[in-house]
Amino acid sequence: MNKKIFVILLVTCLAITASIFSTGTANAEWGDIVLNSKSTSMKKAGVKPVVFPHWFHRIRFKCKVCHEDIFIIKKGANDINMTKIMSGEFCGKCHNGLVAWAPLYCERCHSYTGSKPNAPTNEN
Ligand code: HEC
Ligand code: HEC
Ligand code: HEC
Repeated sequence: MNKKIFVILLVTCLAITASIFSTGTANAEWGDIVLNSKSTSMKKAGVKPVVFPHWFHRIRFKCKVCHEDIFIIKKGANDINMTKIMSGEFCGKCHNGLVAWAPLYCERCHSYTGSKPNAPTNEN
């Protein structure tokens, strides 16, 4: 192989590797969806906005477990509240003390500590 072609191939391989790694990290970081449409009632109740760790769930369940039987596949499109969760809808389909821990530990879900809960997230 001539040297020039070798260098071009090497650079291409490095570029591909770099892009794989960077999207990998990006997914892990951007995998969180902040749910804050009920900000007024959450403030009143003294809980923070909700962070839904999408990636954490995506590696444990097939997409079709949640989409679209439990959640419409669009950020902000689901009208979720605690009454529904406690009666086994939305997060409560699993966070019921059987599939996963019960919705008693408020701060596990209401955990957003950043300053821009409504900033667009680059999630898909
Ligand atoms: C444990 C349940 C769960 C699983 C499993 C899951 N999702 Fe989601 N997904 C959600 C929730 C909750 C939201 C946020 C909905 C909202 O904001 O009302 C969401 C939102 C989305 C969105 C919309 C994001 C946006 O910015 O509008 C897409 C796209 C999506 N999911 C794709 C997937 C894909 C692809 C998979 C499988 C690899 C998957 N989801 C698995 C619960 C899940
Ligand atoms: C399809 C089932 C399912 C649904 C629906 C679901 N979860 Fe989960 N969730 C799980 C399981 C299983 C775990 C892991 C429990 C464990 O480790 O004991 C988990 C763990 C979590 C964790 C902890 C993550 C960590 O890093 O330990 C959070 C936070 C969470 N869920 C929030 C939510 C929220 C908010 C919703 C609704 C928007 C939701 N979940 C809906 C199954 C689900
Ligand atoms: C399994 C995750 C989870 C747990 C645990 C949880 N919540 Fe929530 N909560 C949510 C989600 C998701 C929403 C909807 C947020 C939105 O769309 O703005 C919500 C909404 C709310 C709201 C506003 C809507 C309403 O129902 O009035 C209040 C207040 C609230 N939660 C209080 C609590 C308290 C108090 C606890 C502990 C006893 C708790 N939550 C535990 C996920 C959870």
